[in-house]
Amino acid sequence: MDMSLEQPAGATRVRNIDENTITAAVLARQADCPDARLKEVLSALITHLHEFAREVKLTEAEWMQGIRFLTATGHMCDDRRQEFILLSDTLGLSMLLVAMNNAKAPQATEATVFGPFHVDDAPRLPPGSDIAGGAPGRPLDVDITVTSLDGQPIAGAEVDVWQADEEGLYDVQRPDLAERRARAVMRTDAEGRLRFRTIVPTAYPVPTDGPVGRMLVATGRHPWRPAHIHFMISAPGHETLITHLFRDGDPYLDSDVVFGVRRSLVVAIEDEGDSARLRHAFVLQPERTAA
Ligand code: BEZ
Ligand code: FE
Repeated sequence: MDMSLEQPAGATRVRNIDENTITAAVLARQADCPDARLKEVLSALITHLHEFAREVKLTEAEWMQGIRFLTATGHMCDDRRQEFILLSDTLGLSMLLVAMNNAKAPQATEATVFGPFHVDDAPRLPPGSDIAGGAPGRPLDVDITVTSLDGQPIAGAEVDVWQADEEGLYDVQRPDLAERRARAVMRTDAEGRLRFRTIVPTAYPVPTDGPVGRMLVATGRHPWRPAHIHFMISAPGHETLITHLFRDGDPYLDSDVVFGVRRSLVVAIEDEGDSARLRHAFVLQPERTAA
């Protein structure tokens, strides 16, 4: 007689959930979730998480280490530092989502990662401004156009620009700096053109003083991003474009720590003696209409 099937008299019937049945048990527990998308996403997350633990035979000590890592990642976050975005970026998840969600016409400018250093209150400056605001670096004259897919100039497009300085730091990474610099929001003119002055970008390491930095060291990875300037360009009737322009010749173009480089976004920065010049034509995709 199989004793395991016997229940002591009067006891409540209890299923023995084991490592093979626990996934189905958890999924069954949320069978009545009223939000279909939440149910779909969480069900897949639970299934893959359990499968991952089984595949690597995760020990309790290892998972505790993982929990400590995630806790430290949260503790590192404040209004100037977003360690979870950095984790998503360095794990390639951010760029995977960019690739999955930004299919564009071949002529449209490609998108790349947003990164953690955008701010919502950048100075709004007129065209022709020097946006460096005293940030150290070699002067760079930027001359861009913004057009639709059919080549029509987009007048009044909002161009939000941000970049690190010559020392590889964004303004928000300098605790003693109260003002915003090397960033601005500007608008294109009637011909869809915008000129402004800034500084030549340099390669920089992502912040390595937190858990993500320790993960990079532990896995034998370098922390560098190739030199780039961030752009977020929006205009009515068009999809907002979040992208960068990367400096041609940078040694990290093919090993960006966040996997953000696209060949079409690599541009020449021409030497002009005391300063340099960058020209680029951005092409926005029309807004998608709901299917
Ligand atoms: C950035 O380019 O600002 C950036 C992107 C991803 C992670 C860290 C920094
Ligand atoms: Fe950046």
